[in-house]
Amino acid sequence: MLWDDTGDRVAPINCPEGLRMPTTLSPELVESVQMGFDETPRRAWSINTRCYTDPRFLDFEREQVFHRSWQFLCHSEKLREPGSYMATVVQGQPIVAVRSTGGTLRAFYNVCKHRGHELLKGEGKSKLIVCPYHAWSYTTDGDLKAARRSEHLEGFDHADFCLTQVRVEVFCHLVFINLDPEATPLAEQSGELATEIQSYAPDLGSLTHAHRLTYRIKANWKAVVDNFLECYHCPVAHKDFCTLVDMSTYNVTTHGIYSSHMAEAGKSDNAAYSVEGASVQDHAVWYLWPNTALMRYPGRGNFMVWRFHPDGPDHCFEEFDFYFETAEPNDDEIEAIRFIDDVLQPEDIGLVESVQRGMQTPAFNQGRYLVDPELSGLSEHAVHHFHSLLLTAYRGETPGAN
Ligand code: FES
Ligand SMILES: [Fe+2]
Repeated sequence: MLWDDTGDRVAPINCPEGLRMPTTLSPELVESVQMGFDETPRRAWSINTRCYTDPRFLDFEREQVFHRSWQFLCHSEKLREPGSYMATVVQGQPIVAVRSTGGTLRAFYNVCKHRGHELLKGEGKSKLIVCPYHAWSYTTDGDLKAARRSEHLEGFDHADFCLTQVRVEVFCHLVFINLDPEATPLAEQSGELATEIQSYAPDLGSLTHAHRLTYRIKANWKAVVDNFLECYHCPVAHKDFCTLVDMSTYNVTTHGIYSSHMAEAGKSDNAAYSVEGASVQDHAVWYLWPNTALMRYPGRGNFMVWRFHPDGPDHCFEEFDFYFETAEPNDDEIEAIRFIDDVLQPEDIGLVESVQRGMQTPAFNQGRYLVDPELSGLSEHAVHHFHSLLLTAYRGETPGAN
């Protein structure tokens, strides 16, 4: 039995049922995107834009990146109560996490064993999982409890129809799932990340969900991650942002499957970040492979989780969840959300959609990473780090695996 950082029980699984033949990329295709790339950022050419436009890369990423990496589900507050559940879809795979009536956290394919209908929707609380199609019922441990009229069948054994489990882990009070039964635990894959988050956001466990922003973007998900990972564009494209943080303190470091982007708050009077008497004075951001960003902004106790989901080779959508001390944002927080929604996001979305159009022309295949030895916020070494993880995956290895 595994224990998470809040002492909650998380069930181990040993259930490789349903594994399919993996999708692979041909060596020629992999070579075509890594040509010119070098593990040393100042020598490297960036990866070829083909992987931002060719659907074969997206098919591969869905199966071999998104179905084999730790995907954020929700804050652990949503799954504290016995019977509480949270459903999601991970790149086409319906999943639900459930806190059993006995107190164990599990995650399952959200799929009935009779005919395959989805079982639970959204979030909620239930002592029993009842399929809306023909009302087969399952316990919150995933065991088949009742199948209407099955008494007429020969050789019908309820034990043959347990829900198929997937991996779930509570990491820094955040619930993550992984469809790969063999996945290395996130706490192990991510090295010092938990220690860093705990030191910047020790109150994360007591924060509560307060707001969600969503965006649909006409760009490959990786173009959005690339943009997120560098502030080389900030003085050009986000003049206001550069008054919010002290750019001279901005430092970016890369570690295994994550990167840390740290700066002190600026001294501006921009109302989006009020640091007057604020309990949090730093701007701390982490990127976690492959599609999650975690953030702590100056102000009252806060945390944000930002996700980038592919939706076709040239589209993606973003979900941006805000956790505050109260479910009602205060005035400063409302202003911070407004600043992100009305200023920063439109600026960034305009940039990445333009880049996607450029990548679809024969005029741009590769560029360079503008890096500096100080690892400053203006340096693009975290983009290079992300691309290095991508190439690892394209070559058939799992970033972070033992
Ligand atoms: S598909 Fe679920 S009971 Fe028939
Ligand atoms: Fe930006």
